[in-house]
Amino acid sequence: MALPNHSVHLATERLVLRPFADADFERAVPYYREPEFLRLMEHEAPDEPMTAADLRIAGEAMASQGYYFAIDHRASRRTIGEACLQWMNLERGRIAGEKIVRCPIGIWDKELWRQGLGKEAIRRMMRFAFDELAVDRFCAMDVERNNKRSRALWGACGLQVVRTVDSGAVLDFEISRAGYFALAPSQ
Ligand SMILES: CC(C)(COP(=O)(O)OP(=O)(O)OC[C@H]1O[C@@H](n2cnc3c(N)ncnc32)[C@H](O)[C@@H]1OP(=O)(O)O)[C@@H](O)C(=O)NCCC(=O)NCCS
Repeated sequence: MALPNHSVHLATERLVLRPFADADFERAVPYYREPEFLRLMEHEAPDEPMTAADLRIAGEAMASQGYYFAIDHRASRRTIGEACLQWMNLERGRIAGEKIVRCPIGIWDKELWRQGLGKEAIRRMMRFAFDELAVDRFCAMDVERNNKRSRALWGACGLQVVRTVDSGAVLDFEISRAGYFALAPSQ
């Protein structure tokens, strides 16, 4: 599959989410060789160092199931992460008759964690999903209980834990359409 495969651009104060392109896989490789980021993204560390070809397999799968974005940082003019608005692909997350997305995200550059950039990106994608795609539900799936940053991110965006998996080691978060429109405007 050639990327980009959509033309949606989502702007925020500090970021631009743009269609993920072929060249972005190479840009991502150094970050996926950093042990902490790799563990958080892949759950199980691969045997060999990640390559652009490895990342392409996962990226193309996401891209074929929704809107796959690269996250550009306006101030540094760098690509600093990726995210996807992915149509629900797990049976446990489906509800008959509902349009549901899940939203994997990674801010590649650790130096930029905890500055509100993840929340800024997610809030913009939530707005696009509820306003433009008219989804019924927005989810974050397979969040590891010990991933404090990720749990804090989803909570700060108004999502709540709706189920646990793997004896409680993994959490699924979601927010409904009604829940989203009930959020305070500052969210
Ligand atoms: C998870 C991730 C996307 C979060 O992005 P981020 O830019 O670091 O998060 P933000 O700075 O926007 O923080 C969002 C909220 O979580 C809080 N938070 C962030 N890190 C936290 C921590 N370690 N402990 C407590 N709260 C934390 C922030 O205060 C903020 O809440 P607030 O708006 O109420 O103040 C990013 O850290 C990342 O890419 N991590 C590696 C990959 C990963 O874990 N992806 C998610 C897999 S499910």
